[in-house]
Amino acid sequence: MNVSILTLFPELYQPFLQTSLLKRAQEKKLVSFSLHNMFDYVEPKQRIDAPTFGHSSGMLIRPDVIEQGIDEAEKQFGKSFKIFLSPQGSKLTQHSAQELWHKVASQKHVMLFASRYEGIDARVEQEYADEIISVGDFVVMGGDIPAMLLLECLLRYMPGVVGKEESVTLDSFSGAFVDHPEYTKPVEWKGRVVPEVLRSGNHGAIAKWRQEKSVELTVKKHFDWMRSCLLTSEQRDLASRYIPSHYVALMHTGIVLKDGRIGTTSITSIDVHDIARSSATYNLKHYFLVSPLVDQKKMIQDLLDFWQEKEVGGEYNSDRHEAMNRVIMADGLADVIAAIEKKEGKKPVILGTSAKFAPGEPRMISYHDQEKVWSHDRPVLILLGTGHGMAEQLMKQCDFILQPIQGFSRFNHLSVRSAAAIIFDKWLGFALQK
Ligand SMILES: C[S@@+](CC[C@H](N)C(=O)[O-])C[C@H]1O[C@@H](n2cnc3c(N)ncnc32)[C@H](O)[C@@H]1O
Repeated sequence: MNVSILTLFPELYQPFLQTSLLKRAQEKKLVSFSLHNMFDYVEPKQRIDAPTFGHSSGMLIRPDVIEQGIDEAEKQFGKSFKIFLSPQGSKLTQHSAQELWHKVASQKHVMLFASRYEGIDARVEQEYADEIISVGDFVVMGGDIPAMLLLECLLRYMPGVVGKEESVTLDSFSGAFVDHPEYTKPVEWKGRVVPEVLRSGNHGAIAKWRQEKSVELTVKKHFDWMRSCLLTSEQRDLASRYIPSHYVALMHTGIVLKDGRIGTTSITSIDVHDIARSSATYNLKHYFLVSPLVDQKKMIQDLLDFWQEKEVGGEYNSDRHEAMNRVIMADGLADVIAAIEKKEGKKPVILGTSAKFAPGEPRMISYHDQEKVWSHDRPVLILLGTGHGMAEQLMKQCDFILQPIQGFSRFNHLSVRSAAAIIFDKWLGFALQK
């Protein structure tokens, strides 16, 4: 395979291509590179770039420069598979790199286009691009570092380039879990000792330790990655061991009422059933129904007695029995916190929810911020409000507040049971990407 790179700065690539694995790959004749300087395709005294139409800032590389570059490279190496580097392209991930490798592996000629300034005329990509790749959601000054990064990522898949092919397939982001930590000599360095199990010679114990570490690290640091992967049920069970225990409390007290006063709302049996089922689906340990009202509690206790009784509700519908078994009545938030502390030995981190954005609220987090919450190494309690939302007194007790759920409309009146299901899914559910 020959890789042609069309660039304004070919000198950037000399040391890069003459170093380490890529140098060896060329010596082994696995791949060759040809650098094409865009300035070679510009007539003397002509500019390589031109202003954009419509008076936006910056200049674009002229389309005819790229056209000439392609013609020259294809005259030498034949028809090419063309990859443009652009922040507007498809995002490079380990998975997309592997897919891209499958597309280019059998090509004799691949061309990379590293642009500068504001980029290139949009018609060039429309005319030529087989792929447009972004190396991440950020903008760098030019396409040369992205092109080098893409080469380092793609060519690891070319047989013979990386010494041990096994290391490519087992590396982080090749499966659902990132790589486990590795250690080398000396056994003790700066007071830190290599874990004993790795020095034990017990291959079974070492494999188990490594698997546990890689799952733990993935759950704690790369939850978004893990939940984008299709896990086996064994992997899912293993991962769930490292997700901190989650609880939910549906607050019927300390609530803003329709007339703006703060008070207590009624419990509805449909919320009891549906949030219990959602809690079971997302592995929440308990669902607390929080109300101090004696009549309300009595009514709900009758319902719970039916479903929680194995010989009654359990016989009638065992799934519903399993879901309803996690429901507990409580008088107030303090009781909920005490019950969780008793079970877990630690107070929970409280994750509030609200239908309103609070600009500048420092506790507001997104549905990708699990690491911020889970790094506290404590159980997590999700607080759901009823009525017109939780009053200030309750919100003040939250350590974090999840940003409101929003669709592309101005309607903002979800039922709490629907909101609960969405919140659990966005916080704890899978979001498969492959
Ligand atoms: C300053 S950037 C142009 C940014 C462009 N105006 C935009 O906002 O999308 C110039 C060139 O750098 C390269 N580049 C910058 N960021 C990149 C990224 N994240 N991935 C791939 N290429 C990138 C592209 O070749 C791009 O045309």
